Amino acid sequence: MHSVAAIKDNIIAPYLEVGGSCRLYGEIKISGAKNSALVLMAASLLTEDKIVIKNIPQLTDIDVMSDLLLSAGVSINRKSNVIELCAKSLKTSELPYNLVHALRASFFCIGPLLARNGKVKIPLPGGCRIGARPIDEHISGLQALGAKVIIEDGVVEAKISNGRNKLLGSQVKLNCKSVGATETILMAATLAEGETIIENAAQEPEIQDLANMLNAMGAQINGAGSSKIRIKGVSKLNGSTHNVIPDRIEAGTFLIAAAITRSELSLSPVIPSHLEAVINKLKECGCEIEIKGEKIKITPKGSIKAVDITTSPFPGFPTDLQAPFMALMATAKGTSKITEKVFENRMQHVGELKRMGGSIQLNGNTAIIKGITQLSGSSLSAGDLRSSAAMIIASLSAKGISIIRGLEHLDRGYEKIETKLNQIGCNIIRKEPNISVREEVQQGIEPISCHNPKVA
Ligand code: UD1
Repeated sequence: MHSVAAIKDNIIAPYLEVGGSCRLYGEIKISGAKNSALVLMAASLLTEDKIVIKNIPQLTDIDVMSDLLLSAGVSINRKSNVIELCAKSLKTSELPYNLVHALRASFFCIGPLLARNGKVKIPLPGGCRIGARPIDEHISGLQALGAKVIIEDGVVEAKISNGRNKLLGSQVKLNCKSVGATETILMAATLAEGETIIENAAQEPEIQDLANMLNAMGAQINGAGSSKIRIKGVSKLNGSTHNVIPDRIEAGTFLIAAAITRSELSLSPVIPSHLEAVINKLKECGCEIEIKGEKIKITPKGSIKAVDITTSPFPGFPTDLQAPFMALMATAKGTSKITEKVFENRMQHVGELKRMGGSIQLNGNTAIIKGITQLSGSSLSAGDLRSSAAMIIASLSAKGISIIRGLEHLDRGYEKIETKLNQIGCNIIRKEPNISVREEVQQGIEPISCHNPKVA
């Protein structure tokens, strides 16, 4: 029997054993976009009719969102990658702390619940610890549409108190290009009276995906994908069937995995225009990229050259690929500079890459990386979703075996990652230990490490 303390400390958690010096080959299938799927699920709250969403990835974040919607009274039927949601009779407009705290995207429910019920109570959200991640833009957007909002004891309470039980269309100018705030205001405005204009809107493809589904439900949205979105409110939205767009972050992760292992790899389906910033940087590094319809083939040519990146909102280089790209730069020829501009605490992978022998100097949110020939396998711990992907990528190219812990982050956002990578030539094993590290040590079992000649 494991002690509660051991489980709490994550000591008995599963881990990955990743074989290094790996070569990838063949073709890899890209899943539906997590960030689209989550907001599309929340948008089902806007109608009494059935919403069918196809190409939903199987991820723990999706499980949490399902549980959250169930708790609000949505009936859900999920079979592999298809989910049917029906929010005919909502039983509450208060969402439970434990689920909201587990997933920042749960905050997406505030706009739809408010527009549909006229009131909502939702705890402040959780999610990856990559910065302060405030919600002020969501709140001021809803206030501009006429909501009264009180934040007390960590709970946000929003109400429509204009006597008409309807939000009112308005002009909203975001101070920062927030993806989540754009989505919150967009969803709320679909059922408002009159026209809403969102200026300085975020332009990420997931926002276009959301607008496409909402328009298919009867909404009147124009300009999603640009920085100015116009929404003419309608009185009611209908059911619809929608296919989630391919996950550009998963695709970018695998492109970088191919580059770091100097392997030729094909990916599909993808929407190449969603990956332009990443493709351009990979070309600059010396990779050949061939695009045919929904397929991308990458062929690294010779050594990878060091290039600088600065993250920024779409269409800039995505913050979600900054950590994987840093792993690539750790083995590039020359010195590169990576600057994180979207989140203030997204450099947790630096310490782990240094453990693998990476030569990285961190100054605030800028990392200077001197490429070395090969990283060394090590025992690693992921602190957030995208750094867990960076560690896998780094481990695939490293000398020896790596152990990666913190899989609760990885499983939030990469569907069956080890199965997919093993199909294209990797050697990754998920281990589910039944004794804690402390117990292993007490029993004289040597923990696996790359410095252990038995497994090197
Ligand atoms: C979404 C994505 C996440 C991605 C991020 C940026 C989902 C589920 N997650 O997160 O994977 O890394 O976009 O592309 O779609 N901000 C404020 N006030 C607000 C809201 C945001 O100051 O009210 C700031 C944040 O602190 C951050 C920046 O704006 O510095 C961007 O955040 P935002 O675009 O809102 O990210 P998320 O929607 O949380």
